[in-house]
Amino acid sequence: MTSYPKEKINVLLLENIHENALNLFKNDGFNVTLLKDALLEDELSEKIKDVHILGIRSKTNVTKKVLENANKLFSIGCFCIGTNQVDLAESEKKGVSVFNAPYSNTRSVAELVIAEIIMLARKAGDQSRDAHLGKWNKIATGCFEVRGKTLGIIGYGHIGTQVSVLAESMGMSVIYFDIQTKLPLGNAKTCDTYEEALKNSDFITFHVPESEDTVNLLTKKEISKMKKGSYILNLSRGKVVSIPDLADALKTGHIAGAGIDVFPEEPKSNKDPFVSELQNLPNVILTPHVGGSTEEAQKNIGSEVANKLIRYINNGSTSFSVNFPNLELPLLKENYRILSVHKNQPGFLRDINKIVSDLGANINSQFLGTTSEIGYLIMDVNKNIGDKVREEISKHSFSIKTRILY
Ligand code: NAI
Repeated sequence: MTSYPKEKINVLLLENIHENALNLFKNDGFNVTLLKDALLEDELSEKIKDVHILGIRSKTNVTKKVLENANKLFSIGCFCIGTNQVDLAESEKKGVSVFNAPYSNTRSVAELVIAEIIMLARKAGDQSRDAHLGKWNKIATGCFEVRGKTLGIIGYGHIGTQVSVLAESMGMSVIYFDIQTKLPLGNAKTCDTYEEALKNSDFITFHVPESEDTVNLLTKKEISKMKKGSYILNLSRGKVVSIPDLADALKTGHIAGAGIDVFPEEPKSNKDPFVSELQNLPNVILTPHVGGSTEEAQKNIGSEVANKLIRYINNGSTSFSVNFPNLELPLLKENYRILSVHKNQPGFLRDINKIVSDLGANINSQFLGTTSEIGYLIMDVNKNIGDKVREEISKHSFSIKTRILY
């Protein structure tokens, strides 16, 4: 065996990451420490010196200073969606792969969208508030079934497609618009233009990423194309819908209701106040960016990220890494695997191949991927040339990190 012994691989999990992750690492033989809180830059800079795998959520910042001390670090797992708390460019240059869990909460968002569609159609949010205040407001006017109504989904990706399936099962007709060609699920129909989706929907729901093209995707111009009395939902990103324009359309009654979970400016913590032009408007459901916040999503995040990290350590797979070339090479029996992170410079592959053949091994498979900064190479050789090959590759001036497995 040439792989580094698992019991010597130190995994540090911060911010009370779900116990699912802890158990996966423990069961695979890693040496795991779980801490409840985030660590500040200075504390982490000290602690990181002995850490091979770091697990964080959104409150720990992995800065350049932290990374300067992280000489044993192989990989960082962000047990959340975002990765902007990590200096990704610096991690990449240091040969530290970063993983996250972008799709663990897909279903949670889709379920809240479906719940809100019915709540809006029945004005149930306002009725509940009235009842709490002691008002008995039994009405049928302006309240509808969702069966037979048309839902327009803007962005038919992971969440959009889940919403599509659930909405159809409630008897809604689904149409969607996506900038990419997407396979329609069930009886959903694609629209050739965004405008076509806006014009023909009773409900419009946004499931797009934030980008230059999606900021202010819905302003008064687009709202004017929507049917009178239709509804708008945004559980994607805060800048996609213009809040002042939506507020105006709700006041005139052109839009009959809205479900909004994300805002252009959101409070940093639960202690900070929240202010929005949508507050106190009729039939508006406001939620504090909780579309993906469920116990199930937390559990899924725990196992999704831990499994990605374990696969990276065990076989070098970087599928879904956010800062490394995404590579996956099937395991070859009775072979030895060499993993190399190096500067993306011409000639490195030629030099590695020479090192390996000079040591008398035959290369049985090889897979190289590059970013503008680094190259990542997975290679299987037929002979255990163990420490010698690592030593030779590490000496190369373009080398960043080398590992040998099995
Ligand atoms: P995804 O990447 O799977 O799908 C996004 C889709 O939008 C893609 O198919 C893409 O082609 C399409 N798209 C991009 N620009 C477009 C445009 N201008 N017009 C139409 N379609 C466009 O993303 P996923 O996982 O479905 O997430 C969607 C959004 O939901 C993201 O913004 C994400 O940040 C947000 N989100 C919100 C959560 C919450 O708590 N409210 C939780 C999870 C995700």
